Amino acid sequence: MTGPYQYYPTPEALSRKAWAMFKNQQFARVLEPSAGEGHLLRPGPYQYGKRLPIDCIEIDIRKHAVLRDKGYAVVGMDFLQFQSGSVYSHIIMNPPFAEGAKHVLKAWEILFDGEIVAILNAETVRNPFSKERQLLLRLIEQHGEVEFLQEMFAGEDAERKTPVDVALVWLKKTSTFEQDILGSILDDLRQDRREADDLAGEFHLPHELALPNAFIDNAVLMVNAAVEAARQAVVSEARASRYRTMLGKTLGELSGGGISSEDDSSSDAVKRMLFKRYHDLKNRAWASILRSTQVTSRLSSTAQKRLESDFEAVKSLEFTVPNIYGFLQGIIDQQGEIQLSMVCDVFDLITRYYSDNAVFYMGWKSNDKHRTLGMRIKTTRFILPGHGSSPYQNGLNWESERLLADFDKVFALLDGKTEAEVCLVSVFRQHFHALRVGKRIGGSYFDVRYYPGVGTIHFFPKSKTLIDRMNRWVGRQRRWLPPVDTQAGQGFWQQFEQAENLDRAFHTEVHKQCPHSSRHVHFDPFWAIKHGGESEREKGHRLLTQAMSSVLASRGIDSDAALENEQSSLLEWTGSLPSATDLALAS
Ligand SMILES: C[S@@+](CC[C@H](N)C(=O)[O-])C[C@H]1O[C@@H](n2cnc3c(N)ncnc32)[C@H](O)[C@@H]1O
Repeated sequence: MTGPYQYYPTPEALSRKAWAMFKNQQFARVLEPSAGEGHLLRPGPYQYGKRLPIDCIEIDIRKHAVLRDKGYAVVGMDFLQFQSGSVYSHIIMNPPFAEGAKHVLKAWEILFDGEIVAILNAETVRNPFSKERQLLLRLIEQHGEVEFLQEMFAGEDAERKTPVDVALVWLKKTSTFEQDILGSILDDLRQDRREADDLAGEFHLPHELALPNAFIDNAVLMVNAAVEAARQAVVSEARASRYRTMLGKTLGELSGGGISSEDDSSSDAVKRMLFKRYHDLKNRAWASILRSTQVTSRLSSTAQKRLESDFEAVKSLEFTVPNIYGFLQGIIDQQGEIQLSMVCDVFDLITRYYSDNAVFYMGWKSNDKHRTLGMRIKTTRFILPGHGSSPYQNGLNWESERLLADFDKVFALLDGKTEAEVCLVSVFRQHFHALRVGKRIGGSYFDVRYYPGVGTIHFFPKSKTLIDRMNRWVGRQRRWLPPVDTQAGQGFWQQFEQAENLDRAFHTEVHKQCPHSSRHVHFDPFWAIKHGGESEREKGHRLLTQAMSSVLASRGIDSDAALENEQSSLLEWTGSLPSATDLALAS
């Protein structure tokens, strides 16, 4: 089955023939408008040993990652809706056979000046029963050539075989000086501009992340207007330059002389300039969408960085309403993952720098080779070092503020809110002097105390529930806690709940098993499980689980015992975990 998209990868030999058909082998910028997985592009052009950049369009979104992995920029989804063709020097295509004529006519329409090579079903040309096929035939007669080939999709190199004959069509579109000036491209663009109602009418994302339709419409209209203005400017500059050159020539030279390709009014130069301007406008436009989505303001700084790196691929898409909605939908789909990594990032920050911030518990017995201990943040207080300030400073430095903002974002998320009402950044800004002299001041989620000399901030969480939620969320993610559908015995949950009370006894036991000695190199299992190599980590975990087992045994807690009261334990577990929907940026 080819599926609705009629996917037939071009065999190697046919791809070579197609590329060889271009008369101008100087490739400035190439478009493959129905790219599949890029088979047709394999023999594509090289310059100075490097593959020249090729832009792809492909309607089947599942193929985009394959194309990007092969180094191509994906600039659109539906070629029949694509508008920015005037920047290409070559279009090479093997469109869906059933719609071959339509795709070639579209390529002709959007190309400003350049060549097209298309692999079509021979029937498309031999049997011109439709208006589109007749138009195509006329184009071939006036501006091109066609070559018929047999069994190109039947050989060894055909991934999907089909017995059709193919027509290899070549077309050359030439823009004349008059066209440059009078601007068929401008007319095209004017036609492309539609009313705002038209643009987003059919799209509805019932989600708060979606930007208001009007915002997206205006952004697209503005970019279209900016592209049009840029095109006018480029064409006017080319025109001015052309007249300037003409002024220096005699009438005889003028009637006989062509335009040198060095000339900055040549169609190559115009295309290059258009591409540059268009690219710049598109980058700005996409960046404005990223900045204005409410989601980014709620992301921690690391999560923002991750999103921005994914954004590189998005930026190459044409700036259209469907593409913008596609991007927003992508963020919505990833939301759960993004939020989970934000919570884990903050958890790691708290546990990494100050061992006293967290306590240990016996991790869930999984199939792993070695059992590991889980960690949970203390509900009473944690300390973060590294935030010193000089006596002359009036506030914390930028990085410290960013960290405080990240804390508020993650705790607001755990609280099902969009932001903290009293954020820590403003607490520090407004009360910096009081904090410096040792006052304890409260934000929405923490009271804080600041020790500027040593550079530590002490956080006193206001809600045990939120810390507990974080601990459970991270615990499940790291497999320290059992998955939701697995039932753990009461002993397991008991030791998890009591971890803070058992902490002192646990450390004493670890000390007993790994005594300090001045003669031997001391093995510190706490250090080993965080920073050691694989074997040190294993040894560390072994020692710590032994110590934890002894402590639990001495208190009669069996963390492995079979479940006695299945129902209550399961309720306890699911009840205290926020569901995906609770956490989906509830407002
Ligand atoms: C015959 S296959 C050729 C694939 C690729 N060009 C090659 O040569 O290996 C046609 C491809 O066009 C894609 N396609 C169909 N309609 C499209 C459209 N309107 N815009 C962009 N791609 C489309 C299909 O998903 C399919 O991958």
